Amino acid sequence: MKAIVYDHYGPPSALRLRDIDRPGVGDREVLVRVRAAGVDPGVLIFLSGRPYLVRLAAGLRRPRVPVLGRDVAGVVAEVGARVTRFRPGDEVYGTTLRGSYAEFTATHERRLAGKPTNLTFAQAAAVPVSGMTALRAVRDTGRVRPGHRVLVIGASGGVGAQAVQIAKAYGATVTGVCAPTKADFVRSLGADDVLDYTREEIDRDGPVYDVVVDTGGNRPLSLLRRALTPRGTLALVGGDWTRGALLGGYGRQMFGAPLLSTVVGHRLRAVNARERIEDLDKLRDLVESGALTPQVDRSYPLAETADALRHFTDGHPAGKLVITVSEPGT
Ligand SMILES: NC(=O)c1ccc[n+]([C@@H]2O[C@H](COP(=O)([O-])OP(=O)(O)OC[C@H]3O[C@@H](n4cnc5c(N)ncnc54)[C@H](OP(=O)(O)O)[C@@H]3O)[C@@H](O)[C@H]2O)c1
Repeated sequence: MKAIVYDHYGPPSALRLRDIDRPGVGDREVLVRVRAAGVDPGVLIFLSGRPYLVRLAAGLRRPRVPVLGRDVAGVVAEVGARVTRFRPGDEVYGTTLRGSYAEFTATHERRLAGKPTNLTFAQAAAVPVSGMTALRAVRDTGRVRPGHRVLVIGASGGVGAQAVQIAKAYGATVTGVCAPTKADFVRSLGADDVLDYTREEIDRDGPVYDVVVDTGGNRPLSLLRRALTPRGTLALVGGDWTRGALLGGYGRQMFGAPLLSTVVGHRLRAVNARERIEDLDKLRDLVESGALTPQVDRSYPLAETADALRHFTDGHPAGKLVITVSEPGT
């Protein structure tokens, strides 16, 4: 099969399109014919091997898994002997640890769910990692409920664009923080108000937000707290991951927030990145009810994956970029 592979850490030019063997399928695994695969910062982090902390999981000297890509949407081609939830021909979406920028990937059945019926494969591939993160930030960490005021920082990004829509679905009034060129896009997601981060700071209106979901920039905790009501919650998803070779700007959620949270009234929490099948099911419900529409800025064919990753880094997409694999135009 054709796959995008890398054998050393580096920039997108380190990627090659190669013919490699199809992955074998374990007892609880599903072989998926990949139709589309999403792009997210995690892919760039695994490709570059930076921040260095990621090499504990990805391989100390060189990548352990040679195929890139985590989000996947496609069709079940084969199932392992003990798989109960899927059959060949089922349309699925979810994640894989064995690389999705390929014609096939194998993944545990608990990483997959039925694909939302009203989405193309490309749209479905835009949901899993970002959508699960947005859901956890809004519902679990933020505990957003009707009447809450929510600030989403990075509202035009992969996680943020879904967080805006999910917070609206949970009954909040939402302000999205974005660049001026993205204001109309963020309003189209349902945001009640937008704040231009090139001209204004997030404490513009004082301590008015019950929940702040932070996905972009690298604001200090002191500034983030100035936007929160006295008992408000900060849901830290991530920020500028290119900062700092070791921790990549994740120091705030790993150390700062847990320590500070013990002595202040605010709940300062890192968003738990655990992937759960129940969350994929919940996201499908939100999509099929019309509350959540994944936004695909642009799709790239598999052979142009390196261009997609360059655009992700430099092009400031609105919403998600997607790699289409075996069905051009999906
Ligand atoms: N905890 C988890 O489970 C988890 C899961 C997924 C992702 N993450 C992390 O979450 C972060 C966001 O991921 P993503 O997929 O949403 O990335 P993304 O698509 O690149 O979105 C980041 C957004 O931040 C905006 N931004 C940049 N500088 C900003 C600033 N100073 N103020 C406000 N917004 C700013 C960007 O807008 P412009 O492009 O217009 O500047 C962009 O829309 C990353 O650090 C990622 O590693 C964490």
